[in-house]
Amino acid sequence: MFKTLSILLKGRIASFAMFFVFFQVSAQEIITVETAENALVFEVNESKELNTVYFGEKLKQADEYRQISSQYKQGTDYTGIYASAYTPAGSKNLLEPAIEVTHADGNMSLSLEYVSSEAQEISPGVVQTEILLRDNVYPLEVRLFFKSYSKENVVETWSVIENRESGDVRLHKFASANLYVRGNNDFWLTHYSGDWAMEMKPETSKLSHGIKVHDSKLGTRANLFQPSVFTVSLGGPASEEHGSVLMGGLEWSGNFRNEFEVDPLNNLRIISGINNYASEYTLKKGEAFTTPKFWFTLSDKGKGDASRNIHRWARNHKVLDGKGSRLTLLNNWEATYFDFDEKKLKKLIGDTRKLGVDLFLLDDGWFGNTYPRNNDDAGLGDWDINRKKLPNGIGTLVETARKNQVKFGIWIEPEMVNPDSELYHKHPEWVIKQPEREEHYFRNQLVLDLSNPEVQDFVYGVVDKLFTENPDLAYIKWDCNAVIYNAYSDYLGANQSELYIRYVQGLYDVLERIRKKYPEVPMMLCSGGGGRVDYAALEYFTEFWPSDNTDPLERVYMQWEYSVFYPSLTMAAHVTDWGDQSIKFKTDVAMMGKLGFDVVIDELEDSELEFCRQAIANYNELEDVIWQGDLYRLRSPWENNTASLMYVGEHQDEAVVFNYRVNYRYEQGSHIPVKLKGLRPDARYTVEEINIYPGEQAVFESRNYTGDYLMKVGINPNVKKDNPSVVLRLKTVPK
Ligand code: DGJ
Repeated sequence: MFKTLSILLKGRIASFAMFFVFFQVSAQEIITVETAENALVFEVNESKELNTVYFGEKLKQADEYRQISSQYKQGTDYTGIYASAYTPAGSKNLLEPAIEVTHADGNMSLSLEYVSSEAQEISPGVVQTEILLRDNVYPLEVRLFFKSYSKENVVETWSVIENRESGDVRLHKFASANLYVRGNNDFWLTHYSGDWAMEMKPETSKLSHGIKVHDSKLGTRANLFQPSVFTVSLGGPASEEHGSVLMGGLEWSGNFRNEFEVDPLNNLRIISGINNYASEYTLKKGEAFTTPKFWFTLSDKGKGDASRNIHRWARNHKVLDGKGSRLTLLNNWEATYFDFDEKKLKKLIGDTRKLGVDLFLLDDGWFGNTYPRNNDDAGLGDWDINRKKLPNGIGTLVETARKNQVKFGIWIEPEMVNPDSELYHKHPEWVIKQPEREEHYFRNQLVLDLSNPEVQDFVYGVVDKLFTENPDLAYIKWDCNAVIYNAYSDYLGANQSELYIRYVQGLYDVLERIRKKYPEVPMMLCSGGGGRVDYAALEYFTEFWPSDNTDPLERVYMQWEYSVFYPSLTMAAHVTDWGDQSIKFKTDVAMMGKLGFDVVIDELEDSELEFCRQAIANYNELEDVIWQGDLYRLRSPWENNTASLMYVGEHQDEAVVFNYRVNYRYEQGSHIPVKLKGLRPDARYTVEEINIYPGEQAVFESRNYTGDYLMKVGINPNVKKDNPSVVLRLKTVPK
C-alpha cells in the first residue's frame, strides 16, 4: 500500500505520510506522482516552466529522476515546453496546446509559470497532488490535480482554471490531461469505432508524426461513433501478457477530444479533454472552471495487467456500489416491444420467478395518454402511466412482483421528448432545437435542454415521482436514444457555445440529486446500446448496456473489447432472440457480464428453461468470482478460432473459464490447450464442466490438476462444432 509520498527538494528526499504538505519550489525542482509501480515526474526548468521528465516504471531511488533528462539527446526543443505539463497557447508554444484563452483585455497569450505544489494522502493509498501554475503577466491561474491510487496503479488528472482578471476570460481550449511519453517514434494506438449495434470495433495503428485526433461531437450519446477510451502500446504492439501499455479515458458523458501528437523529438504528447468544438466558455471575473477527470494506468506487463488495474480501481473507488452485488433480471423489451397490457406483464412477472432471476424490468411503452407510447414516434416526455395498458397503475405490478418474490424495475428516457407529446407542446422552450430551422430527429425525438434548471427539475421529478409513488421500485434503466442536432438553447441566450458543456453538467446535477435521495438503487445506463459509458457516469450508474446487438457471437468480440476498460459487473449482457445460436451458447456468453434475459419464457422448450434455471443457479454461485475476480483474457477471438476468458476469485481458490467457438468453418475448434492464468501453482484444482445442457453429457472430463500444470500446459476445453461453448469451473481441492 502507498503510505508515503516522496518529494525531491534540491537533492533531498522528504517523505510524508498521512499529512498535508505545502512547499514553494525554486527552479530545477522535481515533483513526483507515484503509484505502487509507476511514477510521473515533473521538473521545473530555469524559466519556471513545469515539464514532464519521466513517465514510467518507478525508480527505486528517487534522486535518480533528476538524471533522466540528460540521457535523452533527441534534438532541440526550441521552446523548452514540448513536454509541458499543461501546454499554454499564444506565447512560445509551437505544438498542440492544452489551454487557449482570450484575456479580459483581448490579448490571447498565455505563459504558465510554476508557483507551488502540495500533496496530501486523502484516504489510505490515495494521494492528491495539486500544482499551482500562474501566468506571469495576467492574473490567471491553473491548478493541476493528480489523484494517484497506489495499489491500483491508476491516476486521475484534471485542472481548475481560475480567472482573477478584471473582466471575462474566454476559454477556447481547456484540457484535462497533457501527458508526455518519451520514446522513439514507436507508439501504437488502439482506439475504437462503431455505430448502433456495432460498438467497440478496435483499430490499432502506429502513430506517425503530426496529430491523430479522435473525438465526439454528438452531445448526448457521445460514444456512438467512438468512445474516449484508448490504449497506447509503447515500443511496439503489446499483447495481453507482454509489453508496455498506457490506457486512459475521459470521465465525461459528452463531447470529448483526444489528441495524440508525435512531436519533432519523436516523443508522444497526449492531450485529452472536453471537445472544444463549438464550446467556447466564458469565465467571469473570479470564476473557476473545473475540467472533468482523465484516468490512466500504465503497465509493463501487457494489456491484461493494465485492465486488471482499471477493474480494481473501478470497483474499489469509482463505480457506484462497485464492491456490491447486482440483480439478474428478465426484461420485456424484445418479448413484447410496445405491445403489452397489465395481464401480459403480470404473466411475465410470474415467468421471472419461474426463470429464477431477481427482477422483472418493464421497458419502454408504459406511459403517455394524449400521445400514447405505442411506438417510438410519440409520448416521450409524458411520464404519466398509460391508462389503457395499465388501468391500475404501476403499483399493482410492483405488488405482483412482491407476491412472486421478485423485484420490479422500470425503463425511462427522461432527457428526451417526442414532438408528439404534451410536454413538447407545453414547453417548446425546453427543447434543444434551432428556432429558425427545420427540426431534425434521431429516432423521432429531440433532446431536452438540461442546461436549464427548470428542465433539470423536471428530469429529477420524473425519477422522484416514480420512487415516491412506488417505494419498492428496485431498478431503473435510464435510456438515451438521440444525439443533439441543431444545438441551441433557449435558456442560454447569448451563451450558446456553452450548451454542450452545460448539458452534461446539468445531467450530473440531476444524477447527484437522485443519488442523494436514492443512494443505492441500481440503475443501468443505456443509450440505445453503447452510446454512453465512461467513469463519470459510472459514479451514478451500477451498470451499462454495451450494445443492442445481443447476438452472442458479436458479444464475444464486443465484451472482449469493453472488458479492456470496464469490469464485468458493470456490463449488462442479456440472452435474447438475436443470433441463431442455442440458448446455452447465448447464456454462456451473457454470463461473462451481468446476466439478464429478454426472451419469451413460454416459447422456451422445457429443457431450455431447465438449462437457464441451472445456469442462473451456477451464476449465482459464481457471482463473486465473475464480478469481483481478476479477469484474464486467455485466447482472443480476433486471432483464433475459439475465444477463452477466465475470472479468478479473490483468494485464487475458485475460477471460471468461458470458451466459445467463433469460427464456424470446417473442423474449427480448440485444437490446442488453453493455458490458464492467475492460479496458485502449488494448489490442486478440480476442473469441472458446468452449464451442461439437460440430457447431454459433459464434453470435458472432470479432473484434478495442479495450478502449475494448468498454467504451464493448460487444458483443452474441447470446443468444436457440436460443443461451441464450454464453461469450466475450478475449485481448489481441500488438502
Ligand atoms: C433502446 C434500448 O437499447 C433497448 O434496450 C430498449 O430499451 C429500447 N431503447 C426502448 O425504446
